[in-house]
Amino acid sequence: MKHLLGIKDLPTSQIENILTTAREFKEVINRPIKKVPSLRDITIANVFFENSTRTRISFELAEKRLSADIVNFSASTSSVKKGETLLDTVNNILAMKVDMIVIRHSSVGAPHFLARHINASVVNAGDGTHEHPTQALLDAYSVWEKLGTIEGKKIALIGDILHSRVALSNIFVFQKLGAEVMVCGPPTLLPKHIEALGVKVTTKLHEALQWCDVANVLRIQLERQQIKYFPSLREYSLYYGINQAMLNQLDKEIVLMHPGPINRGVELSSDAADSPQAIILDQVENGVAVRMAVLYLLAEQR
Ligand code: NCD
Repeated sequence: MKHLLGIKDLPTSQIENILTTAREFKEVINRPIKKVPSLRDITIANVFFENSTRTRISFELAEKRLSADIVNFSASTSSVKKGETLLDTVNNILAMKVDMIVIRHSSVGAPHFLARHINASVVNAGDGTHEHPTQALLDAYSVWEKLGTIEGKKIALIGDILHSRVALSNIFVFQKLGAEVMVCGPPTLLPKHIEALGVKVTTKLHEALQWCDVANVLRIQLERQQIKYFPSLREYSLYYGINQAMLNQLDKEIVLMHPGPINRGVELSSDAADSPQAIILDQVENGVAVRMAVLYLLAEQR
């Protein structure tokens, strides 16, 4: 693997390799000295054209803990504002001898386009509504760590399936690892023909919660919505918001996940988000280990 562009074309053996490598790195980042010299000769540019807190910090920490040299680029303070193209911007960064590009972009396919035109390795840190492979890998890692296995587990993705890149990458990763996936949301936020991906589909929150072992709750991506898909956030929350009382009524204790950022009081109430059933901060911790594994395995191929 030279690039990590998505989960769709990533062989299952590679996914398993990333997860087992991440387990080693999780051990490393919990030591008093959290650093290894593996990427000492590698320079990485983090090129973010969209807002990010977790993903950007997580990549940066992963790179630092592998001893890579890093530069950070944020579109809002760059010459992109002066009219430079994506390829020109990236080629200028690469002229300064950069080996890997971690890119987040609002356009679907931006990392794939770069991968076709440049020599450096490209890691997709989220391309529009399409894929977010490292998020899916850390989600899979977190379920594996919590439940001991992914095979045969039932994973429900709940919320804005239509605009969420986490949803698509999650569908691919969990199916490849042998889990069953259900998507749940209002009809307007479920892509047409999504069942063609082999997922179960429901518009009823209770049905999804009752069915699953793990609920991965997704934010409403208002910034990607050009039209109104539901009357109001208040109404959305009334039908699709999850609170602790609902979780307590289920036959079994399910695991609650969220990629962040949470909109408290919309998709999750505070009591649910902060409950012991939620592994949301474990996901964040695991994100660093998983990204270390991805960068390490990509650097090995160079
Ligand atoms: C997600 C993203 O950016 O796609 N966040 C993340 O990377 N942790 C989900 C979201 O923005 O809702």
